[in-house]
Amino acid sequence: MRDVATRSIAFVAVPVSFGGPRMLPHHSRNLPVALPLRSLTPAPPDPILGLTETFRADARPHKVNLSVGVYVDDTGITPVIASVLEAERRLLAKAGSKGYLPIDGRPGYKNAVRDLIFGPDHEIVESGRSATAQTPGGTGALRVAADFLLQTGSSKTIWLSDPTWPNHPQLFSMAGFALRTYPYLDESGRGIDVSRMLGSLRSAAPGDVVLLHGSCHNPSGVDPDAETWAAVAEIVADRELVPIVDFAYQGFGFGLREDADWLVGLARPGLEFLICSSFSKNFALYNERVGALTIVAADPSRAGSALSHLKIAIRSNYSNPPAHGGDIVETILTDPALRAQWEVDLAGMRNRILGNRAALVKALVDAGVPGHWDPIQRQRGMFALLGLSADQVARLRDDFAVYVVGKGRINVAGLTSANLPYVVGAVKAVIED
Ligand SMILES: Cc1ncc(COP(=O)(O)O)c(C=O)c1O
Repeated sequence: MRDVATRSIAFVAVPVSFGGPRMLPHHSRNLPVALPLRSLTPAPPDPILGLTETFRADARPHKVNLSVGVYVDDTGITPVIASVLEAERRLLAKAGSKGYLPIDGRPGYKNAVRDLIFGPDHEIVESGRSATAQTPGGTGALRVAADFLLQTGSSKTIWLSDPTWPNHPQLFSMAGFALRTYPYLDESGRGIDVSRMLGSLRSAAPGDVVLLHGSCHNPSGVDPDAETWAAVAEIVADRELVPIVDFAYQGFGFGLREDADWLVGLARPGLEFLICSSFSKNFALYNERVGALTIVAADPSRAGSALSHLKIAIRSNYSNPPAHGGDIVETILTDPALRAQWEVDLAGMRNRILGNRAALVKALVDAGVPGHWDPIQRQRGMFALLGLSADQVARLRDDFAVYVVGKGRINVAGLTSANLPYVVGAVKAVIED
């Protein structure tokens, strides 16, 4: 392995052009001639959230939405978890304020998020060589990361796993990145093609950005084992790549610390990387839009410098983050009793999903649905890939009102004892047809 002590993300401001779009005199009463709406054709709907809009409009009473990654309990409800309810009660009882938050969020929140990722005693925490900013959800963190990297002169090439969450390619190309992909799944779609994946990562140019799913790979639910993660970390260090870890599911795989293990192993002297946290899933705070971007730098002074550039990326985008979700997360993470309650809430969601995996596999096997279903039980997180064709996915929707995305990605958390037999019957029908 080459010495990585000197590698860094370059924090150099890129000159900004102030040319801007042509401005119309503000006394003009006519429609602006430059507005291109007349030549616009409708854009395709979002592959996941667009499907949910179609689902809402579907009048069939037996419809089942397994497309979007939202946890539901066995009654089909997305609950506000107990720790969040209590935190909200406490926040309501305090004399609050609706004043702006700092551009990068509250210090207490930022520290709590950093400790959650690395553990409070980690060298990164003690040395102060990281910088965290609160963001609107994990998506906000990814977009700020993209803007920050391009604004500070990083490589314009990002490597995404194939397959990946459909918003990754859209988000990074809209931000200005050129997209490359590294192969991820093997032929069966149930395991990782380790040698092809590592071979592809080895071909990335020094400085290229590589997006890694922190845990619970979306859409496959298949994560690298410790040995593969160690090999990825070696390549990242050796090829001087810039990793962005998309950490949208911390605690949904094996546990809070277990899911962060490999990522903490990425932390070696000189290796700088970014982590995008989402608290949509593990706190069930989907519509509060709460997340964070953490940058690990070689030393505290570079972390400070990174933060100053992060603030520019944020200020020029949404200015500063919304407060309520972040206040809930901070309240929970900084109160030992609430934190313990949250870990129980989180384990409850994780275990229900694992139970659903086992029930799904049993039902598919019992019903004699052709296919190799067993690995679904070993996958982690919200999703499983059924490996269906586009035709089969369309038939599930059109003939059975069962909504799934891509190659049959289903949200395992969306299965309930009431809808499971119907879903399995529908899958059997489209596979056997
Ligand atoms: C892999 C991945 N990254 C990021 C996100 C974004 O999460 P958020 O809703 O917090 O923006 C999601 C949400 O589904 C996801 O699956």
